[in-house]
Amino acid sequence: MAALADSPDTASGIARELQANCERPFEDAHAMPPRVYTSDAFLALEQREIFSKEWLCVGRASSLANAGDYLTAQIDAQPVVVLRDEHGALRAMSNVCLHRMSVLLEGRGNVRRIVCPYHAWNYALDGTLAGAPMMDRQPGFCKESYRLPQVRCEVWQGWIYVTLNADLPPVATQLEELTRLIEPYGMTDYVETFHEAHVWNTNWKILAENFMESYHLPMLHRATVGPHSRLEEMECPPGRPAFNYHWITKEASLPIGNAHPDNTRLQGHWRRTTALLAIYPTHLVTLTPGYFWYLLLQPRGVGQVEIQFGGGLSPEFITDPKAADYMATLKTLLDEVNAEDRHGVESVFRGVHAPLAKPGNLSHLERPNYDFARYVAQRTATS
Ligand code: FES
Ligand SMILES: [Fe+2]
Repeated sequence: MAALADSPDTASGIARELQANCERPFEDAHAMPPRVYTSDAFLALEQREIFSKEWLCVGRASSLANAGDYLTAQIDAQPVVVLRDEHGALRAMSNVCLHRMSVLLEGRGNVRRIVCPYHAWNYALDGTLAGAPMMDRQPGFCKESYRLPQVRCEVWQGWIYVTLNADLPPVATQLEELTRLIEPYGMTDYVETFHEAHVWNTNWKILAENFMESYHLPMLHRATVGPHSRLEEMECPPGRPAFNYHWITKEASLPIGNAHPDNTRLQGHWRRTTALLAIYPTHLVTLTPGYFWYLLLQPRGVGQVEIQFGGGLSPEFITDPKAADYMATLKTLLDEVNAEDRHGVESVFRGVHAPLAKPGNLSHLERPNYDFARYVAQRTATS
């Protein structure tokens, strides 16, 4: 390992250091080297080899219920809009105007046409150019030749995924094994009841890693969920190529954490089992028999991550008269827990810059982190 300390501070040098780190067996696994979290060059490599090539989750299909409902996202440098068109289909397109290339839509909302905020060129919901003020005076201009470039978009279990990669197998194929593992929950029918966007000051991987291990619950969350968390009730099986997961098998402290009496899909221990899913690279879901909540991550430089935070209820709880109250209690708790996580992951981001910082051994409850590190190492391998 000593020679690797001299790896140059280039993306490929850092990728080699990460690969060497990941060659250790799990019994001697270590946290990722600090430079993977702090290097601009390594983030550029991740953008090119991970974000531009993978399926990325951008939200719940149910949040785009009506024609013209849209959400926006960014894949590396490419702004993307996903919308429900007039025929009820979901469609993803470049969110960049075909005139002088302004970004078109921001955030989320509903439009009848996509109108560019710069000179008002405007597009129908299928991306064709519908109008362009005064352009009929230019004989060289042909309105019919313009259409916003379309982006691959698929729905898996109610989640919208987009990719710039034409060669990637369908998202359902990549997640076939996960579909089987969580089949009894029926996640497709879970209904989103809240959605928020936040920006935290940390590297996107530090936040992803925080989500995928529950080792930190007793300490970091000692003021909230920590006292109810028992590390011996957590099960961390080895990860798979496209995702990792772990289970917490215990009676939930909130009624909506256990299966609703009307829920006949979940049997036995499944009625009180929570699944924690980390779908690579940036889709993180806590799935319980009664509710779910999720984070979708989008890096904004090495030290900032934009977070889509949402959640909702299983179909049986949506119709339960008390569910809204339970959900309100849960949301308050999630906000408190997230504030603790924010403190934790921002603190790690400060720590990884320290000249004396050094990655330590991972616990057996950080198996998902080991698998995630190997995923990042494999995707960023340049030699
Ligand atoms: S850049 Fe969009 S109308 Fe000019
Ligand atoms: Fe946490």
